[in-house]
Amino acid sequence: MKSADVEKLINQVLTKQTMDESALQEFIKAVAQRNIEISLVEKWLKAVHSNGISVPETTQLTKGMMLSGSVIDWQNNSLVVDKHSTGGVGDKMSLMLAPILAACGLKVPMLAGRGLGHTGGTIDKLESIPGFNCSLNPQQMQDQVELIGCCIAAQNDAIAPADGLLYAIRDVTDTIDSIPLITASIISKKAAEGLGSLVLDVKCGKAAFMQTLDDATALAKSMVGAAKGLGINTVAQITQMDYPIGQYVGNSLEVLGSILVLQGKGSKDTLGIVVLQCAELMIRTGVTDSHEQAENLIAEVIANGSALEKFREMCIQQGTEEVTAQALIDNPNSVLPSSEHITEIIATEAGYVSEIDSMVLADIARKHGAGRFTIEDEIIPEIGFEICIERGQHVESGFAWLKFHHNQVLSEVEIAALSNSLTTSSQKIEVNSRLISIIE
Ligand code: URA
Repeated sequence: MKSADVEKLINQVLTKQTMDESALQEFIKAVAQRNIEISLVEKWLKAVHSNGISVPETTQLTKGMMLSGSVIDWQNNSLVVDKHSTGGVGDKMSLMLAPILAACGLKVPMLAGRGLGHTGGTIDKLESIPGFNCSLNPQQMQDQVELIGCCIAAQNDAIAPADGLLYAIRDVTDTIDSIPLITASIISKKAAEGLGSLVLDVKCGKAAFMQTLDDATALAKSMVGAAKGLGINTVAQITQMDYPIGQYVGNSLEVLGSILVLQGKGSKDTLGIVVLQCAELMIRTGVTDSHEQAENLIAEVIANGSALEKFREMCIQQGTEEVTAQALIDNPNSVLPSSEHITEIIATEAGYVSEIDSMVLADIARKHGAGRFTIEDEIIPEIGFEICIERGQHVESGFAWLKFHHNQVLSEVEIAALSNSLTTSSQKIEVNSRLISIIE
Protein backbone atom coordinates (compact mmCIF):
# COMPACT_ATOMS: atom_id res chain seq x y z
CA MET A 1 0.00 0.00 0.00
CA LYS A 2 1.38 3.41 -0.92
CA SER A 3 2.38 5.71 1.95
CA ALA A 4 0.25 8.48 0.44
CA ASP A 5 -2.84 6.25 0.68
CA VAL A 6 -2.16 5.50 4.35
CA GLU A 7 -1.67 9.23 5.00
CA LYS A 8 -5.05 9.84 3.36
CA LEU A 9 -6.66 7.27 5.66
CA ILE A 10 -5.02 8.91 8.69
CA ASN A 11 -6.25 12.30 7.53
CA GLN A 12 -9.80 10.96 7.23
CA VAL A 13 -9.67 9.85 10.88
CA LEU A 14 -8.18 13.16 12.02
CA THR A 15 -10.82 15.19 10.15
CA LYS A 16 -13.65 12.87 11.27
CA GLN A 17 -14.53 11.79 7.75
CA THR A 18 -15.49 8.16 7.11
CA MET A 19 -12.46 6.09 6.19
CA ASP A 20 -12.50 4.81 2.63
CA GLU A 21 -13.55 1.18 3.05
CA SER A 22 -11.34 -0.42 0.42
CA ALA A 23 -8.33 1.60 1.61
CA LEU A 24 -9.00 0.45 5.19
CA GLN A 25 -9.12 -3.19 4.06
CA GLU A 26 -5.89 -2.70 2.10
CA PHE A 27 -4.26 -1.15 5.16
CA ILE A 28 -5.25 -4.11 7.37
CA LYS A 29 -3.94 -6.55 4.75
CA ALA A 30 -0.62 -4.71 4.63
CA VAL A 31 -0.43 -4.80 8.46
CA ALA A 32 -1.14 -8.57 8.48
CA GLN A 33 1.57 -9.13 5.87
CA ARG A 34 3.98 -6.87 7.78
CA ASN A 35 4.31 -4.95 4.53
CA ILE A 36 3.93 -1.39 5.84
CA GLU A 37 6.07 1.21 7.54
CA ILE A 38 5.66 0.93 11.31
CA SER A 39 5.68 4.73 11.69
CA LEU A 40 2.53 4.93 9.55
CA VAL A 41 0.78 2.27 11.62
CA GLU A 42 1.74 4.24 14.76
CA LYS A 43 0.32 7.41 13.27
CA TRP A 44 -2.95 5.68 12.28
CA LEU A 45 -3.32 4.11 15.75
CA LYS A 46 -2.72 7.46 17.45
CA ALA A 47 -5.33 9.10 15.18
CA VAL A 48 -7.92 6.42 16.01
CA HIS A 49 -7.01 6.58 19.71
CA SER A 50 -7.40 10.36 19.91
CA ASN A 51 -10.35 10.91 17.53
CA GLY A 52 -12.27 7.63 17.65
CA ILE A 53 -14.06 6.07 14.68
CA SER A 54 -17.74 5.28 14.09
CA VAL A 55 -19.46 1.97 14.90
CA PRO A 56 -19.73 1.01 11.16
CA GLU A 57 -16.01 1.77 10.73
CA THR A 58 -15.23 -0.29 13.85
CA THR A 59 -17.21 -3.17 12.31
CA GLN A 60 -15.27 -2.84 9.03
CA LEU A 61 -11.99 -2.78 10.94
CA THR A 62 -13.05 -5.86 12.93
CA LYS A 63 -14.10 -7.68 9.76
CA GLY A 64 -10.80 -6.89 8.03
CA MET A 65 -8.82 -8.09 11.03
CA MET A 66 -10.89 -11.29 11.21
CA LEU A 67 -10.32 -11.95 7.49
CA SER A 68 -6.58 -11.31 7.81
CA GLY A 69 -6.23 -14.93 9.01
CA SER A 70 -8.09 -18.25 9.17
CA VAL A 71 -11.80 -18.28 9.94
CA ILE A 72 -13.26 -21.58 11.10
CA ASP A 73 -15.94 -22.69 8.68
CA TRP A 74 -18.67 -24.84 10.27
CA GLN A 75 -21.26 -26.62 8.18
CA ASN A 76 -23.85 -25.16 10.52
CA ASN A 77 -22.76 -22.71 13.20
CA SER A 78 -26.09 -22.34 14.99
CA LEU A 79 -24.78 -24.23 18.05
CA VAL A 80 -21.26 -22.77 17.92
CA VAL A 81 -20.84 -20.36 20.83
CA ASP A 82 -18.27 -18.63 23.02
CA LYS A 83 -17.79 -16.05 25.72
CA HIS A 84 -15.29 -13.26 26.27
CA SER A 85 -14.61 -11.54 29.55
CA THR A 86 -12.70 -8.30 30.01
CA GLY A 87 -11.13 -9.93 33.07
CA GLY A 88 -11.18 -9.67 36.82
CA VAL A 89 -9.71 -11.14 39.98
CA GLY A 90 -10.63 -14.84 40.20
CA ASP A 91 -12.29 -14.78 36.76
CA LYS A 92 -11.97 -18.46 35.85
CA MET A 93 -15.35 -18.88 34.11
CA SER A 94 -13.99 -20.25 30.81
CA LEU A 95 -12.62 -23.36 32.53
CA MET A 96 -16.16 -24.35 33.55
CA LEU A 97 -18.23 -22.74 30.79
CA ALA A 98 -16.66 -24.70 27.91
CA PRO A 99 -17.23 -28.20 29.40
CA ILE A 100 -20.67 -27.31 30.82
CA LEU A 101 -21.89 -26.06 27.44
CA ALA A 102 -20.33 -29.06 25.65
CA ALA A 103 -22.19 -31.33 28.07
CA CYS A 104 -25.40 -29.47 27.11
CA GLY A 105 -24.83 -30.13 23.40
CA LEU A 106 -23.24 -26.83 22.34
CA LYS A 107 -19.91 -26.39 20.53
CA VAL A 108 -17.25 -24.16 22.07
CA PRO A 109 -14.10 -23.49 20.00
CA MET A 110 -12.57 -21.12 22.54
CA LEU A 111 -9.49 -19.02 21.85
CA ALA A 112 -8.00 -17.52 24.99
CA GLY A 113 -5.02 -15.47 26.04
CA ARG A 114 -2.18 -15.36 28.52
CA GLY A 115 -2.42 -12.65 31.13
CA LEU A 116 -0.40 -9.49 31.40
CA GLY A 117 -1.93 -8.43 34.66
CA HIS A 118 -2.35 -9.37 38.29
CA THR A 119 -3.18 -13.02 37.56
CA GLY A 120 -2.64 -15.14 34.49
CA GLY A 121 -5.07 -15.60 31.65
CA THR A 122 -7.10 -18.72 30.88
CA ILE A 123 -4.14 -20.27 29.04
CA ASP A 124 -1.79 -19.73 32.01
CA LYS A 125 -4.34 -21.39 34.28
CA LEU A 126 -4.74 -24.43 31.99
CA GLU A 127 -0.97 -24.74 31.65
CA SER A 128 -0.75 -25.50 35.36
CA ILE A 129 -2.28 -28.89 34.42
CA PRO A 130 0.55 -31.31 33.55
CA GLY A 131 0.73 -31.98 29.80
CA PHE A 132 -2.08 -29.58 28.82
CA ASN A 133 -1.30 -28.22 25.35
CA CYS A 134 -2.97 -24.98 24.24
CA SER A 135 -1.16 -24.74 20.88
CA LEU A 136 -3.89 -25.91 18.53
CA ASN A 137 -4.23 -24.74 14.96
CA PRO A 138 -7.71 -23.86 13.62
CA GLN A 139 -8.15 -27.32 12.05
CA GLN A 140 -7.20 -29.06 15.31
CA MET A 141 -9.63 -26.81 17.19
CA GLN A 142 -12.43 -27.68 14.82
CA ASP A 143 -11.66 -31.43 14.90
CA GLN A 144 -11.63 -31.47 18.71
CA VAL A 145 -14.87 -29.52 18.95
CA GLU A 146 -16.56 -31.89 16.49
CA LEU A 147 -15.30 -34.80 18.61
CA ILE A 148 -16.02 -33.68 22.20
CA GLY A 149 -17.78 -30.31 21.95
CA CYS A 150 -15.08 -27.96 23.27
CA CYS A 151 -11.47 -26.88 23.19
CA ILE A 152 -9.50 -24.02 24.72
CA ALA A 153 -6.57 -22.91 22.59
CA ALA A 154 -4.09 -20.05 22.74
CA GLN A 155 -4.44 -17.23 20.27
CA ASN A 156 -1.93 -17.81 17.49
CA ASP A 157 -0.60 -16.28 14.28
CA ALA A 158 -3.12 -18.16 12.13
CA ILE A 159 -5.96 -16.18 13.72
CA ALA A 160 -6.36 -12.47 13.00
CA PRO A 161 -2.62 -11.86 12.36
CA ALA A 162 -3.26 -8.14 11.83
CA ASP A 163 -4.10 -7.96 15.54
CA GLY A 164 -0.69 -9.32 16.54
CA LEU A 165 1.19 -6.33 15.07
CA LEU A 166 -1.47 -3.74 15.93
CA TYR A 167 -1.56 -4.92 19.57
CA ALA A 168 2.25 -4.84 19.88
CA ILE A 169 2.36 -1.29 18.49
CA ARG A 170 -0.59 -0.19 20.66
CA ASP A 171 1.37 -1.41 23.66
CA VAL A 172 4.37 0.85 22.94
CA THR A 173 2.40 3.87 21.66
CA ASP A 174 0.07 4.12 24.66
CA THR A 175 -2.98 3.47 22.50
CA ILE A 176 -4.30 0.37 24.28
CA ASP A 177 -7.25 2.13 25.90
CA SER A 178 -9.23 2.94 22.78
CA ILE A 179 -12.72 1.45 22.61
CA PRO A 180 -12.74 0.84 18.80
CA LEU A 181 -9.26 -0.71 18.94
CA ILE A 182 -10.16 -2.95 21.90
CA THR A 183 -13.39 -3.93 20.15
CA ALA A 184 -11.72 -4.86 16.88
CA SER A 185 -8.94 -6.76 18.66
CA ILE A 186 -11.29 -8.86 20.79
CA ILE A 187 -14.17 -9.39 18.36
CA SER A 188 -12.00 -10.18 15.31
CA LYS A 189 -10.49 -13.15 17.18
CA LYS A 190 -13.86 -14.36 18.50
CA ALA A 191 -15.43 -13.95 15.03
CA ALA A 192 -12.63 -16.05 13.52
CA GLU A 193 -13.99 -18.97 15.55
CA GLY A 194 -17.01 -18.91 13.20
CA LEU A 195 -19.47 -18.33 16.05
CA GLY A 196 -23.24 -18.28 15.89
CA SER A 197 -23.65 -16.70 19.35
CA LEU A 198 -21.42 -14.85 21.79
CA VAL A 199 -21.80 -13.61 25.35
CA LEU A 200 -19.55 -10.80 26.57
CA ASP A 201 -18.82 -10.26 30.24
CA VAL A 202 -17.80 -6.63 30.68
CA LYS A 203 -16.47 -6.26 34.19
CA CYS A 204 -17.06 -3.00 35.98
CA GLY A 205 -15.56 -1.87 39.28
CA LYS A 206 -12.41 -1.23 41.28
CA ALA A 207 -10.70 -4.44 40.11
CA ALA A 208 -11.73 -4.12 36.44
CA PHE A 209 -10.29 -2.42 33.37
CA MET A 210 -13.53 -0.40 33.15
CA GLN A 211 -14.09 1.19 36.54
CA THR A 212 -17.25 3.19 35.85
CA LEU A 213 -20.61 2.05 34.51
CA ASP A 214 -20.43 4.66 31.70
CA ASP A 215 -17.10 3.28 30.45
CA ALA A 216 -18.22 -0.34 30.76
CA THR A 217 -21.44 0.46 28.89
CA ALA A 218 -19.57 2.23 26.09
CA LEU A 219 -17.24 -0.76 25.61
CA ALA A 220 -20.14 -3.22 25.79
CA LYS A 221 -22.15 -1.27 23.17
CA SER A 222 -19.18 -1.08 20.84
CA MET A 223 -18.37 -4.81 21.09
CA VAL A 224 -22.01 -5.85 20.72
CA GLY A 225 -22.36 -3.53 17.68
CA ALA A 226 -19.29 -4.93 15.92
CA ALA A 227 -20.11 -8.58 16.68
CA LYS A 228 -23.72 -8.18 15.54
CA GLY A 229 -22.46 -6.35 12.45
CA LEU A 230 -20.57 -9.55 11.62
CA GLY A 231 -23.74 -11.62 12.02
CA ILE A 232 -23.04 -13.03 15.49
CA ASN A 233 -25.99 -13.18 17.91
CA THR A 234 -24.37 -11.23 20.77
CA VAL A 235 -25.23 -9.98 24.23
CA ALA A 236 -23.09 -8.23 26.83
CA GLN A 237 -23.54 -8.60 30.57
CA ILE A 238 -22.01 -5.84 32.67
CA THR A 239 -21.01 -7.41 35.97
CA GLN A 240 -19.72 -6.11 39.28
CA MET A 241 -15.96 -6.52 39.83
CA ASP A 242 -14.99 -4.95 43.15
CA TYR A 243 -14.43 -8.04 45.27
CA PRO A 244 -12.75 -11.28 44.12
CA ILE A 245 -14.82 -13.93 42.35
CA GLY A 246 -15.33 -17.08 44.38
CA GLN A 247 -12.86 -18.66 46.72
CA TYR A 248 -9.72 -19.29 44.65
CA VAL A 249 -7.42 -16.82 42.93
CA GLY A 250 -4.15 -17.79 41.21
CA ASN A 251 -3.45 -20.09 38.31
CA SER A 252 -3.47 -23.66 39.67
CA LEU A 253 -5.83 -22.57 42.48
CA GLU A 254 -8.35 -21.41 39.88
CA VAL A 255 -8.15 -24.81 38.18
CA LEU A 256 -8.88 -26.35 41.59
CA GLY A 257 -11.79 -23.94 42.17
CA SER A 258 -13.21 -24.76 38.72
CA ILE A 259 -13.01 -28.52 39.27
CA LEU A 260 -14.80 -28.09 42.61
CA VAL A 261 -17.62 -26.25 40.81
CA LEU A 262 -17.82 -29.01 38.18
CA GLN A 263 -17.95 -31.54 41.04
CA GLY A 264 -20.91 -29.64 42.49
CA LYS A 265 -18.87 -28.54 45.53
CA GLY A 266 -17.63 -25.13 44.41
CA SER A 267 -18.30 -21.52 45.25
CA LYS A 268 -21.85 -20.26 44.65
CA ASP A 269 -20.51 -16.88 43.52
CA THR A 270 -18.41 -18.54 40.80
CA LEU A 271 -21.20 -20.87 39.70
CA GLY A 272 -23.64 -17.93 39.61
CA ILE A 273 -21.57 -16.09 36.98
CA VAL A 274 -21.03 -19.26 34.92
CA VAL A 275 -24.79 -19.91 34.96
CA LEU A 276 -25.47 -16.32 33.88
CA GLN A 277 -23.22 -16.72 30.84
CA CYS A 278 -24.19 -20.31 29.92
CA ALA A 279 -27.92 -19.57 30.25
CA GLU A 280 -27.71 -16.66 27.75
CA LEU A 281 -26.03 -18.91 25.20
CA MET A 282 -28.41 -21.80 25.82
CA ILE A 283 -31.44 -19.55 25.31
CA ARG A 284 -29.97 -17.83 22.22
CA THR A 285 -29.23 -21.17 20.55
CA GLY A 286 -32.64 -22.61 21.45
CA VAL A 287 -31.19 -25.36 23.67
CA THR A 288 -33.53 -24.12 26.41
CA ASP A 289 -36.45 -21.71 26.45
CA SER A 290 -35.83 -19.89 29.71
CA HIS A 291 -33.19 -18.99 32.26
CA GLU A 292 -34.81 -21.38 34.73
CA GLN A 293 -34.65 -24.29 32.28
CA ALA A 294 -31.02 -23.47 31.52
CA GLU A 295 -30.19 -23.38 35.21
CA ASN A 296 -31.85 -26.78 35.68
CA LEU A 297 -29.95 -28.29 32.77
CA ILE A 298 -26.65 -26.93 34.10
CA ALA A 299 -27.45 -28.36 37.55
CA GLU A 300 -28.19 -31.70 35.87
CA VAL A 301 -24.92 -31.92 33.88
CA ILE A 302 -23.01 -31.05 37.05
CA ALA A 303 -24.93 -33.55 39.22
CA ASN A 304 -24.64 -36.42 36.71
CA GLY A 305 -20.91 -35.82 36.18
CA SER A 306 -21.13 -35.14 32.44
CA ALA A 307 -19.68 -31.60 32.69
CA LEU A 308 -16.72 -32.90 34.71
CA GLU A 309 -16.32 -35.71 32.18
CA LYS A 310 -16.12 -33.11 29.37
CA PHE A 311 -13.40 -31.33 31.31
CA ARG A 312 -11.49 -34.63 31.65
CA GLU A 313 -11.93 -35.36 27.93
CA MET A 314 -10.73 -31.86 27.04
CA CYS A 315 -7.56 -32.39 29.12
CA ILE A 316 -6.88 -35.74 27.42
CA GLN A 317 -7.56 -34.40 23.93
CA GLN A 318 -5.18 -31.54 24.64
CA GLY A 319 -2.28 -33.70 25.76
CA THR A 320 -2.74 -34.60 29.43
CA GLU A 321 -2.18 -38.33 30.08
CA GLU A 322 -5.34 -40.25 30.88
CA VAL A 323 -4.16 -41.34 34.31
CA THR A 324 -3.26 -37.72 35.19
CA ALA A 325 -6.59 -36.37 33.90
CA GLN A 326 -8.45 -38.94 36.00
CA ALA A 327 -6.41 -38.10 39.10
CA LEU A 328 -7.00 -34.39 38.42
CA ILE A 329 -10.77 -34.71 38.57
CA ASP A 330 -10.74 -37.24 41.44
CA ASN A 331 -8.22 -35.44 43.63
CA PRO A 332 -7.00 -32.17 42.04
CA ASN A 333 -4.43 -31.47 44.75
CA SER A 334 -2.61 -34.73 43.90
CA VAL A 335 -1.86 -33.36 40.41
CA LEU A 336 -1.74 -29.57 40.61
CA PRO A 337 1.45 -27.84 41.79
CA SER A 338 1.35 -26.58 45.39
CA SER A 339 3.24 -23.76 47.08
CA GLU A 340 6.00 -24.13 49.69
CA HIS A 341 4.13 -22.01 52.22
CA ILE A 342 0.54 -21.15 53.10
CA THR A 343 0.16 -18.16 55.41
CA GLU A 344 -3.14 -17.66 57.18
CA ILE A 345 -4.41 -14.12 57.68
CA ILE A 346 -6.64 -13.69 60.71
CA ALA A 347 -9.63 -11.35 61.10
CA THR A 348 -8.80 -8.81 63.80
CA GLU A 349 -12.39 -7.91 64.62
CA ALA A 350 -15.83 -9.46 64.35
CA GLY A 351 -18.38 -8.19 61.83
CA TYR A 352 -20.10 -8.64 58.51
CA VAL A 353 -17.75 -8.81 55.51
CA SER A 354 -18.36 -5.59 53.58
CA GLU A 355 -15.29 -5.32 51.36
CA ILE A 356 -12.36 -7.40 50.23
CA ASP A 357 -9.87 -5.27 48.34
CA SER A 358 -9.20 -7.42 45.27
CA MET A 359 -6.42 -5.24 43.93
CA VAL A 360 -4.35 -5.30 47.13
CA LEU A 361 -4.56 -9.09 47.22
CA ALA A 362 -3.95 -9.49 43.49
CA ASP A 363 -0.98 -7.08 43.43
CA ILE A 364 0.78 -8.98 46.21
CA ALA A 365 0.04 -12.32 44.50
CA ARG A 366 1.43 -10.89 41.26
CA LYS A 367 4.67 -9.82 42.96
CA HIS A 368 5.04 -13.39 44.22
CA GLY A 369 4.58 -14.83 40.69
CA ALA A 370 0.83 -15.24 40.11
CA GLY A 371 0.88 -12.65 37.32
CA ARG A 372 3.27 -10.93 34.95
CA PHE A 373 4.80 -7.46 34.76
CA THR A 374 6.32 -7.99 31.31
CA ILE A 375 5.38 -10.49 28.62
CA GLU A 376 8.65 -12.41 29.24
CA ASP A 377 7.85 -13.05 32.94
CA GLU A 378 7.22 -16.66 33.91
CA ILE A 379 4.09 -17.39 35.91
CA ILE A 380 4.52 -19.49 39.06
CA PRO A 381 1.28 -21.52 38.87
CA GLU A 382 0.95 -22.41 42.54
CA ILE A 383 0.98 -18.81 43.82
CA GLY A 384 -2.32 -17.23 44.83
CA PHE A 385 -4.85 -17.09 47.61
CA GLU A 386 -7.95 -18.74 49.02
CA ILE A 387 -10.67 -16.57 50.46
CA CYS A 388 -12.48 -18.46 53.20
CA ILE A 389 -15.34 -15.98 53.63
CA GLU A 390 -18.04 -14.50 51.44
CA ARG A 391 -19.27 -10.94 51.18
CA GLY A 392 -22.06 -10.35 53.72
CA GLN A 393 -21.00 -13.29 55.91
CA HIS A 394 -20.43 -12.73 59.65
CA VAL A 395 -16.85 -13.43 60.77
CA GLU A 396 -15.51 -13.74 64.30
CA SER A 397 -12.29 -12.10 65.41
CA GLY A 398 -9.47 -14.66 65.08
CA PHE A 399 -11.00 -16.44 62.07
CA ALA A 400 -8.46 -17.35 59.34
CA TRP A 401 -10.25 -15.64 56.46
CA LEU A 402 -7.41 -15.73 53.92
CA LYS A 403 -4.82 -18.37 53.02
CA PHE A 404 -1.98 -16.95 50.96
CA HIS A 405 -0.03 -19.52 48.91
CA HIS A 406 3.58 -18.48 48.34
CA ASN A 407 7.18 -19.69 47.89
CA GLN A 408 9.10 -16.54 48.89
CA VAL A 409 8.87 -15.02 52.36
CA LEU A 410 5.95 -12.62 52.88
CA SER A 411 7.20 -9.31 54.32
CA GLU A 412 5.65 -7.64 57.38
CA VAL A 413 4.37 -4.87 55.09
CA GLU A 414 2.69 -7.43 52.81
CA ILE A 415 1.12 -9.26 55.74
CA ALA A 416 -0.26 -5.96 57.07
CA ALA A 417 -1.63 -5.04 53.62
CA LEU A 418 -3.29 -8.45 53.26
CA SER A 419 -4.81 -8.08 56.70
CA ASN A 420 -6.07 -4.54 55.96
CA SER A 421 -7.69 -5.64 52.70
CA LEU A 422 -10.66 -6.98 54.69
CA THR A 423 -13.29 -4.49 55.86
CA THR A 424 -16.10 -5.58 58.15
CA SER A 425 -19.17 -3.74 59.31
CA SER A 426 -21.27 -4.01 62.44
CA GLN A 427 -24.36 -3.66 60.18
CA LYS A 428 -25.69 -6.48 58.02
CA ILE A 429 -24.57 -6.18 54.37
CA GLU A 430 -26.94 -6.62 51.48
CA VAL A 431 -25.36 -8.76 48.75
CA ASN A 432 -26.69 -7.98 45.28
CA SER A 433 -26.39 -10.04 42.11
CA ARG A 434 -23.17 -9.40 40.20
CA LEU A 435 -25.22 -8.59 37.10
CA ILE A 436 -25.54 -4.81 36.71
CA SER A 437 -27.02 -4.53 33.22
CA ILE A 438 -27.51 -6.24 29.88
CA ILE A 439 -26.65 -4.68 26.52
CA GLU A 440 -27.90 -6.24 23.32
N1 URA B 1 -7.72 -8.26 24.82
C1 URA B 1 -7.40 -8.26 23.51
O1 URA B 1 -7.24 -9.31 22.90
N2 URA B 1 -7.24 -7.06 22.90
C2 URA B 1 -7.41 -5.89 23.52
O2 URA B 1 -7.26 -4.87 22.91
C3 URA B 1 -7.75 -5.91 24.89
C4 URA B 1 -7.91 -7.12 25.52
